[in-house]
Amino acid sequence: MFKRVGVIILICILSFSTINADQAANSTGTDIDARVKALVEKMTIDEKLGQMVMADKQSARPEDVTEYFLGAIVSSGERMPNRNSQEAWLEVSGSFKKAASSTRLGIPLLCGIDAVHGQNSVYGAVVYPHNIGLGAAADPQLMYELGQATAKEMLATGYNWNFAPCVAVAKDASWGRTYESYGENTQLVNTLLVPYIKAIQENGVAAAAKHYIADGATAWGTGDSGYQIDQGNAAISEEELRKTHLPSYQEAVKAGVKTIMVSYSSWNGLKNHENQYLIQTVLKGELGFRGFVVSDYEAVHQLKNKDFYEQIVATVNAGVDMLMNGMSWQYTIGTLQEAVRRGDIKHERIDDAVGRILRVKLEMGLFDEGIMVRQPATQQLGGAEYRRIAEKAVRESLVLLKNVNNILPLKKNAKLLVMGPAANDVGVQCGGWTLSHSGGTDKESGSKWTKGTTILEGFKRVAEVNGGIITTDVKEAKYAEAVVVVIGERPYVEGHGDDRQLGMYDGTALEENRQAIEAAKATGLPMVVVIVSGRPRNISQEMGAWAAVVEAWLPGSEGGAVADVLYGNYDFTGKLPVTWTDIQGSGKTQPTFPYGFGLKMNK
Ligand code: GLC
Repeated sequence: MFKRVGVIILICILSFSTINADQAANSTGTDIDARVKALVEKMTIDEKLGQMVMADKQSARPEDVTEYFLGAIVSSGERMPNRNSQEAWLEVSGSFKKAASSTRLGIPLLCGIDAVHGQNSVYGAVVYPHNIGLGAAADPQLMYELGQATAKEMLATGYNWNFAPCVAVAKDASWGRTYESYGENTQLVNTLLVPYIKAIQENGVAAAAKHYIADGATAWGTGDSGYQIDQGNAAISEEELRKTHLPSYQEAVKAGVKTIMVSYSSWNGLKNHENQYLIQTVLKGELGFRGFVVSDYEAVHQLKNKDFYEQIVATVNAGVDMLMNGMSWQYTIGTLQEAVRRGDIKHERIDDAVGRILRVKLEMGLFDEGIMVRQPATQQLGGAEYRRIAEKAVRESLVLLKNVNNILPLKKNAKLLVMGPAANDVGVQCGGWTLSHSGGTDKESGSKWTKGTTILEGFKRVAEVNGGIITTDVKEAKYAEAVVVVIGERPYVEGHGDDRQLGMYDGTALEENRQAIEAAKATGLPMVVVIVSGRPRNISQEMGAWAAVVEAWLPGSEGGAVADVLYGNYDFTGKLPVTWTDIQGSGKTQPTFPYGFGLKMNK
């Protein structure tokens, strides 16, 4: 292993020397505007157009980066190296960066990835609670800490661009991406996005505020890509858009966010990717955004009634600077060349786009640091320091919804039955965007989906040092004083999680929920129900029989920390970041719990 890392470091050092003298000389310049101008003037049209295209590392080779002057590569979803290890990721990112540094101008490459809750694609990296849980925690200092840790684990695998944070203001829990949002309240979202963006960027990684704009305001039945609500249409007034959804981008721009990703969704029937008013006039004009705007993955194909040529022209002329056409990158470059030749995309627009991309790369210091001067972290991924941060996030994210007769905190020496499909499953705890696009369960993989501790392991860890007894066998219920039943949702991602019912036994709910609840009820023991889910689900019909209810959201790899709160080592501090509304059929009933609700154990 050390030999391999040694070889990679050697490659990095050798390739640093291939950045031509002209480039190295430029890197000492201090005025970024002048450096951008000088570089753009030097570039050929093909070098410029290459910078505006991001290829998926699954469909491009390092030599393509050199030949086509590609500006970035994306590693998204299912596309991970065969061996999912730190060395394998370093090898991949290093090979592409080396290829970029051996082009005529040696313009460094951005390596982008969805590290939306830690460097979650890489086995062994720490997986933090998804944003909905961080919204419940509402702790800006924690956001900085976990953002910093995320950036460091990204650089330890050679990745320098995070497609995060999602700053959606989520208005409908039926949306599969609700868990990627900090919540329904604009001020809460703003409070958390700012420290996260600062942490990511102050530690050498570019952030991407996404998805511009009002992705959380779409209506059921208007979805795209076959989804019901994801990528749908936000039918809202401009006043509502500006009051609820634009402030997060204003805050992100003020915080210096380097990139902004456009949403697949539409506003009042027009796809955001072709909305010149939103991108050029509002974002770049009114808000003064000077970074660059990136499309979502192959989103241009969704523009209606246009062929590919017209889609590319419309998207670029609307103000998108870089096209994340991961699979169609080569066709995209050819189409850009044709559009420039025909004058349908003006040179001024190209120079603006390329200038923005170069500005980001210069501001990040990529030119001055060669392809990997920020050496990979010496410590292995997933070190104790970062796991402690994740445990703190888990504790602070928990929301206590019910606690009859103060059954919580549990006595540390209690005899407990701990059961349920989400009790002992790191994959379920992590949810989507974990090792793969949709994530997966320990049950499916036959072992832990990634390194981490389960909720059950957390109970065992506390009980064994306090004379407590934990059983998972419902036949031993007669010896127990209470039953902790952990239910939840299966891992899902994007529109695959669109779910109108949101019951505990339908849609994206784990199919074993019902059996677990019924078995727990049959024991006659007081029930402590812990819910592992990306959003509220309908429990009002059920919860009458439950002594305590805790929403744990999607806690990530360090689920063991849940027990520390239920045993009373810490009190609950989490508050609902979204209104908990039972959706019955098509209508909405009264909120079961209001936004901001959350009990404490110690009055
Ligand atoms: C996806 C998502 C976006 C993500 C991108 C790259 O489809 O919409 O959030 O950053 O593709 O994986």
